[in-house]
Amino acid sequence: MSCLAISPFVESPRLRLRGPCERHLPHLAELANDYDVVKMTGSMPYPYGLEDARTILDKAASLDPRREAMFVIEHDGGPIGVLSFVAGPHGRTEIGYWLGRPYWGKGLATEAVRAAMDWAGSDWGKRVVVACHNADNPASGQVLINAGFLYTGDVEMKFSKARGDKVPVRWMVWLA
Ligand SMILES: CC(C)(COP(=O)(O)OP(=O)(O)OC[C@H]1O[C@@H](n2cnc3c(N)ncnc32)[C@H](O)[C@@H]1OP(=O)(O)O)[C@@H](O)C(=O)NCCC(=O)NCCS
Repeated sequence: MSCLAISPFVESPRLRLRGPCERHLPHLAELANDYDVVKMTGSMPYPYGLEDARTILDKAASLDPRREAMFVIEHDGGPIGVLSFVAGPHGRTEIGYWLGRPYWGKGLATEAVRAAMDWAGSDWGKRVVVACHNADNPASGQVLINAGFLYTGDVEMKFSKARGDKVPVRWMVWLA
């Protein structure tokens, strides 16, 4: 399998969000093999290898396109992270994302999430999208605020595979 054509292209000034390709996997695996990245996610293991990156393609191939989408975030022609919409609680679509450490602190996550939400609201027709971030990850909360999400006030204990433990997460919601 080379590239999945199931996800549309979403473009922003510095980024291109597109369906995952085989050629993305080695660099994504390298970027994700970083405890400080995966500890902020629910489902990514640590260490993270090429076989783990392959699940990005597997997952993308089995998405329900009404509620789910999977994008690799490209910058300067190469992959720098992943952004996905998955089936979340109460039938809601939930956004998740990560960027490799060399790309942090440049406004790129904000740019990616804003572009993805513009696409979700206009092209995809979503009216409600939810998100959660670990309570010890305020940068991700700020990214979501920058993209128009608001805190619901709900806090829940959620399992983090990399940490091997449950952590408190703060729920947020975006309304079109
Ligand atoms: C969280 C993550 C996506 C942020 O990516 P990024 O490209 O550095 O984010 P941006 O530069 O667009 O924005 C970060 C925002 O957080 C703010 N911020 C950074 N550290 C912060 C902190 N400790 N407390 C509060 N705000 C913080 C920045 O000032 C910035 O806000 P601003 O643009 O309003 O000034 C990235 O660090 C990452 O992928 N981490 C690992 C995986 C992860 O956390 N995924 C999200 C799971 S919910």
